[in-house]
Amino acid sequence: MVKKICCIGAGYVGGPAMAVMAQKCPSIEVAVVDVSRPRIDAWNSDRLPVHEPGLYAVVRACRGRNLSFSSDVDRHVADADIVFVSVNTPTKSRGLGAGLAADLAYWESAARMVASAASRSATNGESKSKIVVEKSSVPVRTAEAMERILLAHGGGEGDDAAFHVVSNPEFFSEGTAMRDLLCPDRVLIGGRDRDAVRALVDVYAHWVPEDRIVTTTSLCSAELSKLAANAFLAQRVTSANAISALCEAVGADVSDVSRAVAMDRRVGGGAFLNAGVGFGGPGFHRDVLRLAYACDCNGLPEAAEYWRQVVAVNEYQKSRFVRRVVSSMFGTVAGKKVAVLGFAFKKGVADTRESPAVDVCRGLLGDRAHVSMYDPAVSEKQILRDTAGKVRVARDAYEAAEGAHGLCVLTEWEEFRTLDYRRIFDGMQRPAFVFDGRNVVDVGKLREIGFVVYSVGKPL
Ligand code: UGA
Repeated sequence: MVKKICCIGAGYVGGPAMAVMAQKCPSIEVAVVDVSRPRIDAWNSDRLPVHEPGLYAVVRACRGRNLSFSSDVDRHVADADIVFVSVNTPTKSRGLGAGLAADLAYWESAARMVASAASRSATNGESKSKIVVEKSSVPVRTAEAMERILLAHGGGEGDDAAFHVVSNPEFFSEGTAMRDLLCPDRVLIGGRDRDAVRALVDVYAHWVPEDRIVTTTSLCSAELSKLAANAFLAQRVTSANAISALCEAVGADVSDVSRAVAMDRRVGGGAFLNAGVGFGGPGFHRDVLRLAYACDCNGLPEAAEYWRQVVAVNEYQKSRFVRRVVSSMFGTVAGKKVAVLGFAFKKGVADTRESPAVDVCRGLLGDRAHVSMYDPAVSEKQILRDTAGKVRVARDAYEAAEGAHGLCVLTEWEEFRTLDYRRIFDGMQRPAFVFDGRNVVDVGKLREIGFVVYSVGKPL
């Protein structure tokens, strides 16, 4: 019977995932630990370090009941029946596999922490076998590496092993983490030890219907499923984006094409078929490249090339957008004011990691445009950091557009659909251009007002 759960890593994944687990399993004590004291202090305060709608209410209800945040890593790891490892796995910036492979330094140190905490409790005669759950997004076969580290610390083998490693990748999206965690499409649990897998299934079964809990006996099938899921979604968006380029060339409308494609039941609906200025966010880019790297490392260059093309076409989509802005505005934006609406990688988040808006702004700045930016959620500090302080940050869309020659929509925030475009038009230079990178504006209406409108994948 699982009584205590500990999660190493109080980050973006660990925090929300454990909060929901604590809420749904009142009989289990859940401790989230991290070596960073400021991060733990933030989790214990009213200003959580992770912003997700609904997260604070759950944390507030469970904190002090069966959910705690602590920097006493050793104690909580030693006490736990299940240890989730949810630490950061950034992409390596140097050495073998730079830009492609994962930097597993935090991961390795977490594995060593688990091993030493467990061996200390064994010395005190409190030995019990632990389930170690890989939760971070990791390259295929990381769990095996974890097993090797644990076994090297005297973990035993087979049924007598002191540790059983299980892979349980996380699939929630930013901005909808709580909804996705409470009602997941599936929970995936991979591992060789049947009892360990069963124990984790029983935890999730507190709130997830059992037919949505998928188990595999192979650790690496579970690990690979995470990379593949993100890569498939990224590939879907990229397919729509590649079609959008052809739509513009032949005068077709990508929304019509996507809708018609999505109505085929085999395609499974219209999600992730919206063409735009390119996909962003930390997950897609990272996992497509990790998948390509895994193919390369296993002597599969053709498969690797297929996935690399997904990233290449995404880059193409962003540069194609910049080229469209520059060429429409008579071949140069030098000295012209360009308003940019939206900087986050998608609506509902303040995150700019891998945001296509960052690259588009760099392209415009490279052509010496004066960029004026507005995003409802991203802080001024973050915008300036991502653009080397080269843009002006406006308080709202109207201020950003005042006196501009062109206006680019780069995030699909709802409020951009309902702006007073007549007012914006009145404040802009002539001809007034709108470049809609997310297909949010009503093209017909804007053209009626007098704008010259370019929308991704729509007839010009
Ligand atoms: C993604 C996955 O959807 C999650 O399942 C996964 O857990 C997560 O990555 C992760 O591994 O980190 P997330 O990055 O939060 O989630 O964002 P998505 O909602 O998937 O959007 C990714 C990008 O694709 C955004 O820039 C979005 O604007 C773009 N997109 C999405 C499109 O351009 N068109 C679409 O039709 C859908």
